[in-house]
Amino acid sequence: MKDGLNSEKTRILELWQKLGFNHYLRSMESLLQKIEEFKQEIAATEANTAELVEAFRIKYLGTKGLVKSVMGEMKSVPNEHKKAFGQVLNDFKLFVESKFETLKENVVGGAEAIGNTIDLTLPGDPITVGTRHPLNIVRNQIVSIFQRLGFAVAEGPEIEDDWHNFGAMNLPEDHPARDMQDTFYINQDPAWLLRTHTSSVQARVMETQKPPIRVICPGRVYRNETISARAHCFFHQVEGLYIDENVSFADLKQTLYFFVQEMFGKDVKVRFRPSYFPFTEPSAEMDISCLICGGDGCNICKHTGWVEILGSGMVHPKVLDNFGIDSNKYTGFAFGMGVERITQLKYQVNDLRLYSQNDVRFLKQFTGVV
Ligand code: DAH
Repeated sequence: MKDGLNSEKTRILELWQKLGFNHYLRSMESLLQKIEEFKQEIAATEANTAELVEAFRIKYLGTKGLVKSVMGEMKSVPNEHKKAFGQVLNDFKLFVESKFETLKENVVGGAEAIGNTIDLTLPGDPITVGTRHPLNIVRNQIVSIFQRLGFAVAEGPEIEDDWHNFGAMNLPEDHPARDMQDTFYINQDPAWLLRTHTSSVQARVMETQKPPIRVICPGRVYRNETISARAHCFFHQVEGLYIDENVSFADLKQTLYFFVQEMFGKDVKVRFRPSYFPFTEPSAEMDISCLICGGDGCNICKHTGWVEILGSGMVHPKVLDNFGIDSNKYTGFAFGMGVERITQLKYQVNDLRLYSQNDVRFLKQFTGVV
C-alpha cells in the first residue's frame, strides 16, 4: 500500500514538473504528503458498529469533512493545472467512498461483525409509567365506597336537553334557581346545553329503571363561569340516588356519614344545614369538620371550622311523578358532590386551574396513589 502511494506521488510530481507547475510544487508536495497520510489512516480504520461507520462518514465525507476541505484546495490551483490536480483529489475521494462502502457492508451485512458489541446483560429501557389524574383517583375512591354499599354506576350524556337537565328535575322555565347554574347553550329552540350538573343522570335513570334504584353517577359538568382559582367552566360531580319503599332522611344521613368516614377517616365530624334545591324536599347541605385545622379555623374553612362538601335531600315527589314513580309508595334520597372539592380537601390543592393545566410537576406528585 505504502509503495503504491509513493509511486503515485512520484508520478504526480513528475507530471507537475512537466506541466511547469514548479511554482506550486512546494505547497502541493506537502498537500500530497498529507493526502498520503490520510489514506493510510483511512485504510487502517475499523468500524464494527453502525455508530462508528456513521462517525467515519461524518469525519471524512460529511459537509464539513476532510474530503470537502481537501477539495477546497482546488481554488488555489492555476486554471491550467486544475485538471491534473483535480484527478488526484478525485482519486482520493473515490478511495474514501469505497472504504466507506466496505465498512457499511461489514456492519449491515454481517451480523457477526457487530454481534460482539451487543451486551445482552444490559437492563432494558425502562417503561415510563404514567400517573392517574388526582381527580380520577378521588372519583374512583368515591365510586368504590358507594359500590360497597350496593350502589351501581350510571352515566349520561354531557350534551343534554332542557328536560333532563332542568324540567324533569323540577326546574321549570323561568325558575329562578336556573340562575344558580350559568348554562352553556348549544341550541336555543329546542334547547340543547352542556349539562350543568349530574342530576340530569338521575332523570335518565328514573326514565329507564323501576325502583328499587340505587345508583351513583360520576361525570363532568359545565358552567359559564369566569375561570379563577375558585371557579372553572367545567368540573366533576358524583351524584347519588336511592329510591325504594321506606327510604328515610336517617338513611341519607347514615349513608353520607359512612362515606365521609371512609373517605376522610373516623375522626371527621359532619353536620347538615337546611338548604334549598328544587329537586329535593327537604334539602340539606353537608359540611365536614375542617381537615386542615381540625376545626380551629383557618383560611380553607374561612375560620368557621367547617367546609361544605355536598348538597342532598329527599327526592321531591314531583320528580318521582315526572317519571311515573308512585310518590305515595316510594321515597328516595339524592345527593351531589364536587370531585374537585373533595380532592382539594384530601390533597390540599387550592387552585382549581391546576387540574386542567397538565403541568407534570403537579401531576407527578400523585405517582403511586391508585
Ligand atoms: N345538582 C346540585 C348542584 O349541582 C347538587 C345536588 C344537590 C344534587 C342536592 C343532588 C341533591 O342530587 O339532592 O349544585
